[in-house]
Amino acid sequence: MRRHLISAADLTREDALLILDTADELARVSERSIKKLPTLRGRTVVNLFFEDSTRTRISFEAAAKRLSADVINFSAKGSSVSKGESLKDTALTLEAMGADAVVIRHSASGAPHRLSNWVRGSVVNAGDGTHEHPTQALLDAFTMRRRLGSLEGRCVTIVGDILHSRVARSNVLLLSTLGAKVTLVAPPTLLPVAVDSWPCEVSYDFDEVLPKTDVVMMLRVQRERMNAAYFPTEREYSRRYGLDRERLARMPQDAIVMHPGPMIRGMEIAAEVADSARSTIVEQVANGVTVRMAVLYLLLGGSEPAIGKETE
Ligand code: CP
Repeated sequence: MRRHLISAADLTREDALLILDTADELARVSERSIKKLPTLRGRTVVNLFFEDSTRTRISFEAAAKRLSADVINFSAKGSSVSKGESLKDTALTLEAMGADAVVIRHSASGAPHRLSNWVRGSVVNAGDGTHEHPTQALLDAFTMRRRLGSLEGRCVTIVGDILHSRVARSNVLLLSTLGAKVTLVAPPTLLPVAVDSWPCEVSYDFDEVLPKTDVVMMLRVQRERMNAAYFPTEREYSRRYGLDRERLARMPQDAIVMHPGPMIRGMEIAAEVADSARSTIVEQVANGVTVRMAVLYLLLGGSEPAIGKETE
């Protein structure tokens, strides 16, 4: 594996399978009464969050702590960023405190790449603008593999605001590497201009794709990144692109429903679908900790085996 994880495109099929297999091993730790390993004792992980997050920030912190790393949490709100301090100076300040890995979320696409030129430690992209969110794609693939087995030849449909979604881009890249067939479904206004060059199909008709899919991944409409109207009304959007009970009933019996969160119940997904037995939304959050443990372990090259004795 490379030293940094910035894009899902950085991962070969072997890299991706190594992370998923390591996460499978580490999942056993989460089932223990003491969920802690000594593997990254003495290492320091800095969580550098310039954009809001619930799941990613908490799960990276939990992952690092379960591996016994020291964790420094940095949030731009309340920091010297408000006084004009740059990303570079913020990063160098944190590195001076001994960071072995920096986990970064930033509103600017490309910020993790820039950071990787300035720090000696590993950089992990925890979501950059509308670009990528590789660990989300890894936890999604891990969740699919646990529910469905191998992803080779599986049909995955990603529905919603593809234009602003770093989750969609990372999933398309990773899932195609793992042999799945991805179809994007969205109104034409919510598709990126260059989507033709992505390794996936595109459809505007959710109902036509539904009966052939193994996985439906619903995405939130990212209003915070919009400065214009991309569809007539929320009601019209939900009617054409929302997943409700009727559409769920038309999916194959063993097909699953995913959502990276945060979700807007009643808009892209009905509450009863989000809470149904076929929804993996809560599982995805739990799997996020395990997969991020695997990523940190593999990047920081713990001197001890990933699974060893429990800490006393
Ligand atoms: N899926 C995801 O990235 O969620 P958060 O924004 O809460 O981290």
